[in-house]
Amino acid sequence: MFKVLVPATTANLGPGFDSLGMALTKYSTYECELNDNIDIQIEGIEKEKLNVENNLVVNSMNKLFDYVGKYPTGYTLKINNGIPMARGLGSSASAIVGGLIVANELVGNPLGKEELLNLATEIEGHPDNVAPALLGELILSTKTSDGKVIYRSIKPFEDLRCVVFIPEYEVSTKDSREVLPEYISMEDTVHNSSHLGLLIMGFLTGDKELIGITMDDRIHEPYRKVLIKKFDEFKKAALDAGAFAFSLSGSGSTIIAYCSESESNMVCEAMQNLANKSNIAGVASVLEPCVNGPIYERGD
Ligand code: HSE
Repeated sequence: MFKVLVPATTANLGPGFDSLGMALTKYSTYECELNDNIDIQIEGIEKEKLNVENNLVVNSMNKLFDYVGKYPTGYTLKINNGIPMARGLGSSASAIVGGLIVANELVGNPLGKEELLNLATEIEGHPDNVAPALLGELILSTKTSDGKVIYRSIKPFEDLRCVVFIPEYEVSTKDSREVLPEYISMEDTVHNSSHLGLLIMGFLTGDKELIGITMDDRIHEPYRKVLIKKFDEFKKAALDAGAFAFSLSGSGSTIIAYCSESESNMVCEAMQNLANKSNIAGVASVLEPCVNGPIYERGD
């Protein structure tokens, strides 16, 4: 028996559209062992939205089997979903990475991390969520012109906490990408590339003030905000309560505030209070950056 816990992720972090992502301490679990038949069981949150017939974990497993040309006779797979779907927390990245890791294990681990990352990116389309789901930490990544993924990891500073408000309402990545403009002006492009560069410097040096100033996006958040209830009000409430930066998490609907541990409970309370006052169903909670990536457990 082999079990892996794959973390949720937050992508973009403001100006890092499709290239920056960070793993968070919230997990889905994938447990697998060889068997004569294929038996798939799904548990956990929102399990009614998942099915065995068209399942991203299983489809990703099959992709790996085809890629390496090795097929197990069968397997038992238990999925315990811990990451809500269509909320901008990388649930599909976790499913893809979970499927690839267990499939790789079933056929003797022929693929290393780099090949798993390339395969995961091919399935997901962009590396910003799958890279931290597979490797942990804060990761800046891109697909080069020859189609390979390159990345560099940054260890988040110790004191960093992420307060997420996860609304009950969903925003699909498809809808959230459809509201994006086809063209971006030169001014906004320069704004984003310069802000992303300095944001990375902020994370590398633990400079919270710099992170706060540069987590300011002009190519997706302003267009997506219309899909997010009271985005500006949540941002103000979080910053007033002590957060140093704020962004949409991935393509939403989750919104995320970045703060120090000492302020995290106050920021969480402020976001939950605003939600309650505004009748927006959902839960605010404090998460930490997930530094080590997937957690592996091997049974007998
Ligand atoms: N970078 C992606 C987006 C994350 O913002 O659309 C969601 O998959």
